[in-house]
Amino acid sequence: MPWELLVTDTRLIKSLKNQLELEGKFVRPIYRDGDITVVRTSIEDHDEECLHRYEQFTRRKYHQELPESANVVAQCTRKFLEARDEPKQKELMDSLPLRYSIYPPLLLFNNSSRSFASRPWQEYFQQHGPELYFEQLLQHFPGLTHVAINMPIVESDVMRRPFNIQPLHGQFNRDLSAQFWVSPTAQDFQNTLWCQTIQNGIQQHWAPMFTMFSRGNVTEKKRILDTFEDIEGNDVVDLYAGIGYFTLSYLKRGARNCLCFELNPWSTEALRRGIVANKIDPRTCHIYNEDNVNCIRRIEQWAHTIDGDPRIRHINLGLLPSSKKAWPLAQAIISLQRKCANPPAVVTMHIHENVHINLLNNESFIQDTIAILSQDSSSSYIARHLEKIKTFAPDVWHVCLDVDVASH
Ligand SMILES: C[S@@+](CC[C@H](N)C(=O)[O-])C[C@H]1O[C@@H](n2cnc3c(N)ncnc32)[C@H](O)[C@@H]1O
Repeated sequence: MPWELLVTDTRLIKSLKNQLELEGKFVRPIYRDGDITVVRTSIEDHDEECLHRYEQFTRRKYHQELPESANVVAQCTRKFLEARDEPKQKELMDSLPLRYSIYPPLLLFNNSSRSFASRPWQEYFQQHGPELYFEQLLQHFPGLTHVAINMPIVESDVMRRPFNIQPLHGQFNRDLSAQFWVSPTAQDFQNTLWCQTIQNGIQQHWAPMFTMFSRGNVTEKKRILDTFEDIEGNDVVDLYAGIGYFTLSYLKRGARNCLCFELNPWSTEALRRGIVANKIDPRTCHIYNEDNVNCIRRIEQWAHTIDGDPRIRHINLGLLPSSKKAWPLAQAIISLQRKCANPPAVVTMHIHENVHINLLNNESFIQDTIAILSQDSSSSYIARHLEKIKTFAPDVWHVCLDVDVASH
């Protein structure tokens, strides 16, 4: 059974959460228990070294489910069902989801063994309709108007679109044009729900019916903001830009230009909205809503517009489970730049991959990656840092390997 930490000084919560996230040990949600704030971890007894780092906090073991008293959804639902003498109250409470994310104006529930997609809840909604229940529930979440169930994305969809998200309450789309997935109109963009969240002070916007949002990248975004001083005044290429998870952090950190490649038009629209919301100069963000195989041609064209003086210092390769397909593209960008006026001496590739823990522990992931890249003999490839971002599945880590590339 893992430990949860009891925090009496609320000023410590943020740094504690950040540190746990950096170690991949944070478990949400943070909740109140009387006067104390409870921060959950995935630290178990055998992890003594890690426990030692948090010994300033009182701790206790916890079961997976939150105490009902701490969960506003459980409290509200019990009252709602009791007031109606609902005969299936126990069954409904047993399958009630207690975990959710708040992405204004959306309340997004997790789908696990407890879910609104479970049989008791589906039957209840069929019989009584979902409206009254969710209207009452949302009274406890000021500012929220929509409810949905988050579902796993379809792995085979390269655009990682949330085809299976299940809206429960509120209107998510209206009057979309025939080709809304591939060539949405300005009207389509207006006629769907948009969500937002703030991470590390950066606003992210997205349409939850059309693009995924991965909150787990927050530590990697922070690393970009904190670690890479040489972003400032230099250029960055983001080969899988999505809604700007990393692009916005690079630009906030002072990148001169960011060139972004992204297939999904809903994601590029989200990125545009993020640029506006974060008051970033739109001239610094070059968005190509197309396959990144075009990046060489595009970068050549763009280089002409800045008098042949690109200074691409970082290349982000953020596709899971693997960004391998784009490694040769990054290498081609680097050799293209070498022919230009003032190329940086080193370019760092940020390679995102899902990797089994055994390949991390025996370092073969790093060795194999460097061996593959080093087939290009025009450059030297040095693994500079491996960041474990989050667990993707049991024993599988989403990592980012920073590889410094310098010409021989
Ligand atoms: C999982 S998202 C990653 C976004 C962000 N970098 C992150 O790590 O959260 C991957 C994005 O890459 C885009 N994508 C996949 N293949 C692509 C390609 N060949 N060219 C451009 N974008 C691509 C998808 O549409 C998707 O939005």
